[in-house]
Amino acid sequence: MADAAGIDAVSDPPKPADPSPSGGAATLSPREAAALPAPATTGRFDGRVVVITGGGAGIGAGTARRFVAEGARVAVMDLAVDEIAPALSAGLARQGDCTDAEALARFLADVDARLGPVDVLFNNVGQSARERGGPFVESQESTWRFVLEVSLLSAMRASRLVAPGMQARGRGRIVNMSSDAAFVGDAGLADYAAAKMGVVGFTRALARELAPHGVTVNAVCPGAIRTRAHDTLSPEVLARIRAGTPAGFVGEVEDVAALVAFLASDEARFITGQTLLVDGGRWMV
Ligand SMILES: NC(=O)c1ccc[n+]([C@@H]2O[C@H](COP(=O)([O-])OP(=O)(O)OC[C@H]3O[C@@H](n4cnc5c(N)ncnc54)[C@H](O)[C@@H]3O)[C@@H](O)[C@H]2O)c1
Repeated sequence: MADAAGIDAVSDPPKPADPSPSGGAATLSPREAAALPAPATTGRFDGRVVVITGGGAGIGAGTARRFVAEGARVAVMDLAVDEIAPALSAGLARQGDCTDAEALARFLADVDARLGPVDVLFNNVGQSARERGGPFVESQESTWRFVLEVSLLSAMRASRLVAPGMQARGRGRIVNMSSDAAFVGDAGLADYAAAKMGVVGFTRALARELAPHGVTVNAVCPGAIRTRAHDTLSPEVLARIRAGTPAGFVGEVEDVAALVAFLASDEARFITGQTLLVDGGRWMV
């Protein structure tokens, strides 16, 4: 069901208030607190249809706002869409689980019917199951499957659904969310590293298949980005993260959004199959 603005009814119960609504401002280093450069608002995506999985919060929501600011009609599927829905004025917010193959297919069919063919797919959804993380030898296969489903298979399913239309139209952009954890191989997160490196391999293979049809496929690998999970970290852990990042600060969702928007733009037509790190230099390829 959609209201006048084209936003699906939201059935999720209200989420508890963010314990740090200021975004952990008290723990910001001077560079983190400095103003971000103003994003371009050039209308690069006027009339374009952009789909973002897991776009209800964090990096996905920041990227959704960026695309809206640049003229796109943005459709988001997330377990909770109450926060992002008002920002998607001419778009679509769908409350649902991206690992539910049928729900994902229904969502993409609705996007096509209501907004038009998908120009840009940002396969952002993913989770580390960090709370279940720990030594690999003690890990559970059910956790591996959870992480692979949400971080890799959902991206493969969504791509299979939108790629035929992109191929037929001779243009399209797919951006997949990986992580610098795929390269660094953070201890305690073997399943996450495996899934995110799987995203890199998937990106390359699909890029080769779709390049002759004018469709590019690239992966982005953020390092430490200040989302809600980071706001709960202790000052000691934050200090360790900054020390391991040559730039010396934790990134913002806007840092990732800027890269995704560039890769999704017409200007990036000659870039495909690439894996770009946006992590302040924690890993260099
Ligand atoms: N934040 C970081 O430091 C960081 C670093 C590297 C990679 N990443 C990746 O970026 C992506 C986004 O992470 P984030 O930090 O913005 O996380 P976040 O927790 O801030 O936001 C994730 C969003 O995804 C939604 N979501 C989770 N599982 C879902 C599902 N099964 N179906 C639908 N929606 C679902 C959540 O409801 C939430 O709105 C993930 O793939 C993550 O692995 C994040």
